[in-house]
Amino acid sequence: MRIRIPASFFMLLFVAILSAQAQTSPAPTPPMGWNSWNHFACKVTAADVRGAANAIASNGMKEAGYIYVNVDDCWQGGRDEQGRIQPNKNFGDMKALADYVHSKGLKFGIYSSPGPETCAGFTGSYQHEEQDAKAYAEWGVDYLKYDWCSASQVYPVSQIREVYKKMHDALQKTGRPIVFSLCQYGWDLVWRWGKDVGGNLWRTTGDIQDRYDSMATIGFGQAGLEPFAGAGHWNDPDMLEIGNGGMRHDEYITHMTLWCLLAAPLLAGNDLTRVTPEDQAILLNKEVIAVDQDPKSAQGHRVSAEGPLEVWAKPLADGSVAVGLFSRGGAFPVKVNFKDLGFTGSVHVRDLWLHKDLGSFEGEFTAQVPRHGAVLVRVWK
Ligand code: GLA
Repeated sequence: MRIRIPASFFMLLFVAILSAQAQTSPAPTPPMGWNSWNHFACKVTAADVRGAANAIASNGMKEAGYIYVNVDDCWQGGRDEQGRIQPNKNFGDMKALADYVHSKGLKFGIYSSPGPETCAGFTGSYQHEEQDAKAYAEWGVDYLKYDWCSASQVYPVSQIREVYKKMHDALQKTGRPIVFSLCQYGWDLVWRWGKDVGGNLWRTTGDIQDRYDSMATIGFGQAGLEPFAGAGHWNDPDMLEIGNGGMRHDEYITHMTLWCLLAAPLLAGNDLTRVTPEDQAILLNKEVIAVDQDPKSAQGHRVSAEGPLEVWAKPLADGSVAVGLFSRGGAFPVKVNFKDLGFTGSVHVRDLWLHKDLGSFEGEFTAQVPRHGAVLVRVWK
């Protein structure tokens, strides 16, 4: 007797396998936390990292989902006679630092390069990949940002995939789950293969700067990359500059709105021990963060662009859609047509920055958007 298995069974099995894979990934949703580079750069010390951990654990960020405390470049000393990587005098004992971060209920991240030197000229992992991965695991590292930098001196760029895979395999071998963050500025269309070499996230561009034009060029420039993001593997348009002082309030609102619509990693890059209530409120808005972390794991896409006015949308797991209305120029009314979102008839609209239901609208919704600003709404039938 032949048993016929309905096609829907295989479909269910496929979905179950995909979701199990996403759950075992160390980055099922875009990673959230803090990274030392944007504010401290090479001046960073272990004390700054402890300060960031203390702040995150006590200012509401931990509860909002900011979990990773990541040291960027400039922590390394040289190697000892056995080739073991040493921290420099600004850091001292890396295991003690990781233990401290863990004691706050947070996770600890570190940085290296596949080249002989990091971008700031510190010791990289070239020819020490397994040894370094082992050291990181022993210290209790949970996240590695692996930055190409001087690797061009020792590898042709055509080998970039193998080079990243090598470190991924070394991390795997340790048995410790470690988020693997590829940083090679989007070269060689990394979004097409980053996942295959074990990347949980990959930078899609060069470095962000704390200026509106830099942030906007990078953020709005992500249009088209949405098919490549999903649970466990994310496009990374670089870390947040909110709170670093180079942009106005509305510009930082645009930064956070856009990054959340992009399902981007949310790594604060400011000095968390000195943050204004306005900037803190931008980093902590739970309804906005929920757009970034939504379990549908979809990256938002550009719906329309007309001169300086843009509309972006991100479908959410509950069937609603997050919609960003942006002006890259002056103050303007910005309109979204509901039919562009797949909705007809009367549609509910809620302002996520203001935590306010705005009512029901037919056909379209228009918001007054400030210069370089953004309005973020959730719409549903
Ligand atoms: C590169 C990276 C930055 C930062 C610096 C550190 O420029 O893109 O994010 O890590 O190196 O030197």
